[in-house]
Amino acid sequence: GRRVTVRDLALAKRRGERWPMLTAYDALTAGVFDEAGIPVLLVGDSAADNHLGYPNTVPVTVDELITLTAAVVRGTKRSLIVADMPFGSYQASATQALATGTRFLKEAGAGAVKLEGGRRVVPQVEALVQAGIPVMAHVGLTPQSVNVLGGYRVQGRGDEEAERLLADAKSLEAAGAFAVVLELVPGELATRVTELLNIPTIGIGAGPGTDAQVLVWTDMAGMTAGQAPRFAKKYADMRAVLGDAARAYAADVVSGAFPAPEHTFH
Ligand code: KIV
Ligand code: NA
Repeated sequence: GRRVTVRDLALAKRRGERWPMLTAYDALTAGVFDEAGIPVLLVGDSAADNHLGYPNTVPVTVDELITLTAAVVRGTKRSLIVADMPFGSYQASATQALATGTRFLKEAGAGAVKLEGGRRVVPQVEALVQAGIPVMAHVGLTPQSVNVLGGYRVQGRGDEEAERLLADAKSLEAAGAFAVVLELVPGELATRVTELLNIPTIGIGAGPGTDAQVLVWTDMAGMTAGQAPRFAKKYADMRAVLGDAARAYAADVVSGAFPAPEHTFH
């Protein structure tokens, strides 16, 4: 079989079919999600705080995300792999965005890239799409701007902010984006954007009215240390499962119960 394409996602919107997206940061985990039939995997810059131990998404580099994206591509067969362009790798100009996007396709084998921002990144989106690089847009809460926004809060509240977000989404569609992530916006606004756009909307903390949903996989699987965000549903308790396994192994080594005869060669 072939990989999912941006055209498949456009058709899904026309048919009114919802679809799931998850983040992935390594070949092993990505392979599990690919086998589970998740059509789109995002190598998010959320790898910074969920995989690489940084405090937020600002420090992660293009080189680091290229390594992770290449691993996710190698570990999958069917999923469309979208690579997040990190902070500082596209904001300066369309030329800079094109250079970064080209690296993600040529060096990592990604099928598309993602960037954050509204009208201000329209030249970047146009340049990428015209060069043959599919672009997923991202509005609402844009974590790379956390230092300007002053925290992770709901965006697009009030008529003026809502109209601004709506206009941003429309201009990204007009620039050629194949989909747009709506992060941490009121559900009513996300529904309205979804109805007004022809491209799929992908919600995270944006209610049930979007065409698709995305979650950070470590939140979805219960691997996140401490409190996951309220909008993230926990579908497993992997942190407890893995911790219990490590403690059981350690106890067996200390007691001498492992290795047993069946683990031993003569
Ligand atoms: O980096 C990320 O995980 C993201 C998604 C939450 C959309 O940008
Ligand atoms: Na991101």
